[in-house]
Amino acid sequence: MVDVRKDFKGRSFLAEKDFTRAEMEALIDFAVELKAMKKAGTPHRYCEGKNVALLFEKSSTRTRCAFVVATIDLGGHPEYLGANDIQLGKKESTEDTAKVLGRFFDGIEFRGFKQSDAETLAEFSGVPVWNGLTDQWHPTQMLADFLTVKEHFGRLEGITFTYCGDGRNNMANSLLVTGAKLGLNMRICAPEGLQPEQWVIDMAEELAKTEGGGKLMVTSDVDAAVKDADVIYTDVWVSMGEEDKFAERIALLTPYQVNSEMMAKTGKDTTIFLHCLPAFHDTETDYGKQIEKDFGLTCMEVTDEVFRSPASLVFDQAENRMHTIKSVIAATMGTF
Ligand code: CP
Ligand code: NVA
Repeated sequence: MVDVRKDFKGRSFLAEKDFTRAEMEALIDFAVELKAMKKAGTPHRYCEGKNVALLFEKSSTRTRCAFVVATIDLGGHPEYLGANDIQLGKKESTEDTAKVLGRFFDGIEFRGFKQSDAETLAEFSGVPVWNGLTDQWHPTQMLADFLTVKEHFGRLEGITFTYCGDGRNNMANSLLVTGAKLGLNMRICAPEGLQPEQWVIDMAEELAKTEGGGKLMVTSDVDAAVKDADVIYTDVWVSMGEEDKFAERIALLTPYQVNSEMMAKTGKDTTIFLHCLPAFHDTETDYGKQIEKDFGLTCMEVTDEVFRSPASLVFDQAENRMHTIKSVIAATMGTF
């Protein structure tokens, strides 16, 4: 039995693979508790007086705001440090930066490119480091996503969950591995050149066998992947840092767009739609306008119709980022 108030103390949250199924479930369940406390106006200042550094090499709306609000709700102080604010890797090594930040702060969030930078910060700072997204993994997003599924269906085990789109980015990696661990039937649907790397599939297969018990599928066949799906999930076709790839991704991924026809192909009228956000579902952004001009498309990975439909729980999912990030901060840094 995992005790969320004791068993995570001082630990970093860098990748899903570092936590057992029971530990991931405990963090999700603790978020349910914290969400209820927030809604009831019950104070939960488990990190009174603690200082938290928020390092962002890449931009963010949800993750940044979730860390800020969660830290303040817990009684702590967040300090935002953007790409141009500190030396990290430019004039000072990540190791030295970690040693300095560890003298000032009680916890460090890191969003950036290299997973190894998150690991170096954890190794040398001496305080918990939380991965707010790297090129490889997006573990805090997983807690929010599977909380949203659990709230909606009342369970995780046995849920069929299909991710369609860029299958070798941080989101696909994290969903495949975490879902496999938590007992869902995980399916990744992507064209052959964009399927997860073999080591990620191997890791997920092993976790499905030893911890989750669900069935996994990696395929380019949309009909097979979405049949009977309870959840259809997608992410942007071009992740942060690869903005020169729009043309090739549009060519490869257009058949994998989440639209009404795809939602109907599940054969269930109870299928929900999820997306980590931000999403390209209309032309109300600078990128959206540019894509319309260059490629004549008014949406990419999901149509506006599906995005705004009753099946879409994307804003519940976004809210859950805050409750689940609070769970991680409190469990690893809190005093109970
Ligand atoms: N889903 C997510 O991580 O959103 P941000 O990039 O806005 O933090
Ligand atoms: N795959 C996306 C996720 C954004 C939350 C990216 O890395 O840009």
